[in-house]
Amino acid sequence: MSITDPDAAARDILKANDRGGYTVPNGRVYPFQWNWDSAFVALGFDRFDRDRAWSEVETLFSAQWEDGFVPHIVFWKDDPGYFPGPDVWGTNKKPVSSGITQPPVAATVVRKLWDSAIAAGDGEPYRGRVEALFPKLLAWHRWFHDVRDPDKRGVVVAMHPWETGRDNSPEWDVPGEPIDVSNVGEYVRRDTSHLDAKMRPTKLEYDRYLALVQFGRARGWDHARIAAENPFRVADVGMSMILLRANRDLADLADALGKTSEAFEIRSWIDLAELGIGYLWNDQVGAWCSRDILNGRSSGFITSASFLSFYAGLRNSERDAATLAHFDRIARTVEFMVPSLDPDDPGFQMIRYWRGPVWAVVNYMVGTGLLESGDSVRGERVRRDTLELMRRNGFYEAYSPVDGTGSGGDDFSWTAAIWLAWSEGK
Ligand code: DGY
Repeated sequence: MSITDPDAAARDILKANDRGGYTVPNGRVYPFQWNWDSAFVALGFDRFDRDRAWSEVETLFSAQWEDGFVPHIVFWKDDPGYFPGPDVWGTNKKPVSSGITQPPVAATVVRKLWDSAIAAGDGEPYRGRVEALFPKLLAWHRWFHDVRDPDKRGVVVAMHPWETGRDNSPEWDVPGEPIDVSNVGEYVRRDTSHLDAKMRPTKLEYDRYLALVQFGRARGWDHARIAAENPFRVADVGMSMILLRANRDLADLADALGKTSEAFEIRSWIDLAELGIGYLWNDQVGAWCSRDILNGRSSGFITSASFLSFYAGLRNSERDAATLAHFDRIARTVEFMVPSLDPDDPGFQMIRYWRGPVWAVVNYMVGTGLLESGDSVRGERVRRDTLELMRRNGFYEAYSPVDGTGSGGDDFSWTAAIWLAWSEGK
């Protein structure tokens, strides 16, 4: 099957998944508002409904906690089709939300939305909305700096695999071993009633996810305490690169709004990250990998997040050359870039979630970074492959890098949004 009018199909998906002010990633599998999904979805709406694009981000930030934290799920309405729901999280917040966060792409998206309004001669009416969002974005980034970077290295330490957005990446296998799953109890998963279990995380992985939710809940979702005691504490290469990029965009927004002291504070985080992010470089593998901060061990896995250094604006000739050598080897192996795990890894599985499939949003960031670095050949390869996957198969949650088949949920909002943001209507 190939789609005759992908632009129209992508718009229809966003409209169908719109619940009024927020968009569900997929009505059956993910029936609430997800944090980084919403940010990417805003880029899609921006192609045909500017006001709606902004309200997507504004609705997300209306669920921000007093300490600056922005949850990974906001449960605006009840829905029995998803587990774990609000009762399991027990955060006691209004609106009801989860207690962990997700990769901070929102500042980059807001900057993009404002640039797009300015380019259309519509920038001034949106200045007030940027001014209202700016302190919220700043508070969230400050929360990352204070609570998710305990050693002040300029990296982001994830407290839950779900926080990274790359739920079952093999990067979390060994760091997940100390998680005690003996008291998790019985529970019924809903994801595997919607989707083939072969595409989803395993029972052991779910036990660990739930054990960490119970751990946070037992500490009243006190994030400082969780950061000091959690059995899972991994400096995530994906979130660290994404936050560095988002800080650069936030600093530019601060300049545009004349917020000098805020710009200074944000640039101090950028300086720290530029100095400290080398902690995530694995010299043996020659790649950017996540690192367990409890024992200092690098995962050694080459994943799609390993290619986000260009998006983060990092340049280092030796590391870039090693990273690009992996890119080229992988590009010769698979038909569609960028697989979420190195296809030469023995654990590669072409349809299992973050152990192989291609994700459009990661591709968007990897491709954007490569293009911005001046690498039009590799950047265009990523962009072309991403759009071709959608054109051939429709808008799936993810795709096999080997044969392009869709995996996970269909009619997926962020995939449709990336089509709209990246295809430029072609
Ligand atoms: C899920 O439920 O699969 C999500 O990725 C958690 O955020």
